Amino acid sequence: MSNELNKQSWNKLSKYYQSSTGISLTDIHYAPYSPGEKELKVIGEVKGLDVIELGCGGGQIAIVLTKLGAKTVTALDISKQQLQHAQKLAEREKVTITFHQGDMEDLKVFQNSSFDLVVSVHAISYANNIENVLSEISRILRVGGRVVLCTIHPLQYVLWEALEEKSIEKIQSYFSSEPSSWDWIDNMKTPIAKFTDRAHRYEEFVNGLISNGLILERIIEPRGYTLEELNNMDLNDVPYHNHMIDEKFTRINQIIPFSIIYTARKIASE
Ligand SMILES: C[S@@+](CC[C@H](N)C(=O)[O-])C[C@H]1O[C@@H](n2cnc3c(N)ncnc32)[C@H](O)[C@@H]1O
Repeated sequence: MSNELNKQSWNKLSKYYQSSTGISLTDIHYAPYSPGEKELKVIGEVKGLDVIELGCGGGQIAIVLTKLGAKTVTALDISKQQLQHAQKLAEREKVTITFHQGDMEDLKVFQNSSFDLVVSVHAISYANNIENVLSEISRILRVGGRVVLCTIHPLQYVLWEALEEKSIEKIQSYFSSEPSSWDWIDNMKTPIAKFTDRAHRYEEFVNGLISNGLILERIIEPRGYTLEELNNMDLNDVPYHNHMIDEKFTRINQIIPFSIIYTARKIASE
């Protein structure tokens, strides 16, 4: 799997992605058409903390973290185009964020013990080597600091397409360590950019956190909003959505979780 290929693809996709998705600037999203931080309270209090977001994309989450009172917010992404969008949005929202272009597998631009909180939402699945990411996260965290990692739920990888197409043939192996390659399709059904990513197994995350001195605190598997709930909500209050409610997505989002969130704390090394 190539981080370089994903970088080029995010550069290519950025404009379409940012104009075709509704991402909240007042709440932190964890999955499409699903409750965010306001309801789930995963990250919690950030006042006075030095925070970094890895794979910040268009900057919406970093902006919310700033508005929630973090002392400093740093935001890193591999894609120049995504960062350009993020910078413009931060200026428009009148918030101060330090942006860096870089790969989350190599954070040497940051010194050891620089941050109290590391956040990453739907970005780690694109990284080639999760072990590199977890060891870098542990290195830049202060003792007692926390990490909140939200990524593709392995059940999503195994079952989503099978449920979508009502076909048992489409079930994927849970044990596959092979990245999957797929095209991002626009609303005219035209492929825009090719990505490779992976939903990591529970054991890879949990054992990877533990072996890097990060003690698991909570796992959260958000359940999507029902169609009825969505119909009674203002779409702007749904932290991540497209321009219209996707009924099929919403139905499957009731059967299996789209995302999994791991929270862990760095303990002192002996
Ligand atoms: C789906 S977007 C998520 C953006 C943001 N976290 C959010 O949830 O709105 C994934 C982002 O991860 C970035 N990314 C992918 N691989 C990366 C890597 N190895 N290092 C840093 N960023 C990466 C992409 O450029 C893209 O902006």
